[in-house]
Amino acid sequence: MPTTTGARARRAPASSEATPAEPVLKWAGGKSRILHELVPRLPRPSQWTGRYFEPFVGGAAVFLHLRPRRAVLSDVNPELVHLYTTIRDEVEALIEDLGRHTYDRQYYYAVRALDPAELPPIERASRMIFLNRTCFNGLWRVNRRGQFNVPFGRYANPTLCPEDRLRAMSAALAETEIRHADFERAVAGARRGDFVYFDPPYVPLTKTANFTSYAAGSFGLKDQERLAALFTALGRRGVRCMLSNSDTPLVRELYAGHHIDQILAPRAISRDPDNRRPVAEVVVRNY
Ligand SMILES: C[S@@+](CC[C@H](N)C(=O)[O-])C[C@H]1O[C@@H](n2cnc3c(N)ncnc32)[C@H](O)[C@@H]1O
Repeated sequence: MPTTTGARARRAPASSEATPAEPVLKWAGGKSRILHELVPRLPRPSQWTGRYFEPFVGGAAVFLHLRPRRAVLSDVNPELVHLYTTIRDEVEALIEDLGRHTYDRQYYYAVRALDPAELPPIERASRMIFLNRTCFNGLWRVNRRGQFNVPFGRYANPTLCPEDRLRAMSAALAETEIRHADFERAVAGARRGDFVYFDPPYVPLTKTANFTSYAAGSFGLKDQERLAALFTALGRRGVRCMLSNSDTPLVRELYAGHHIDQILAPRAISRDPDNRRPVAEVVVRNY
């Protein structure tokens, strides 16, 4: 299995005035902490002349860092896709609406109980930011019926309206296509010269750990296999792809034949010393 390390620093084709922006949401698996491992492994500018695709966009940390000129972002989480579309198209109205929320346990549960599909579009987007910033650990978890079910979180003084981040994200998204789609459909139109960064829910590290459930439905073995087949097929079409996942025998087997680099990812702060050690992940490339 080919393994390369120490890839040279490469620049993404970014928009002229692009300054990296920070994610608006806290998101499980957010990539802010390993950007320094991902950026040097991007394709060279001469190899990446087309669009940037991020079909598991989540908190969008990589997109916001790169700010590519032409991008297609997608995710299977309908609230996330609605939020990013609102940030792109109506950021000032969203900022205004965020001003009416208060950090209070009872208020939190009242907002959580609202059906997002029944809300006016701005309030629906504002609800997602409010819940994300005040729920336990910034988790996004839904039950089988797709209802958000994370309990209230305790914070000293949570920022309910990250104005600067919202405006910076809105500017970064200005020319971006945002889609609600399964990853396979999202990249169906990718062509030679385009670049795709895949950051799927990770293969669990232990047999007992469950495959992750981010939106209604979970990402199981069949999905991991479907993704690996797509990764190879895109490479045959001249589309350069990079992927993050856990360093497990299954992932190494699925991507055998591609470049696999091991990286050590710092974990979120934990009181348990056993949980503070960095965890092994892989970055896979078909170039
Ligand atoms: C590991 S997170 C991505 C984290 C992101 N890169 C970041 O920096 O915050 C995985 C994302 O995949 C999405 N997802 C899960 N199943 C999917 C599917 N079948 N197609 C597209 N997106 C999916 C989840 O909603 C979640 O946002």
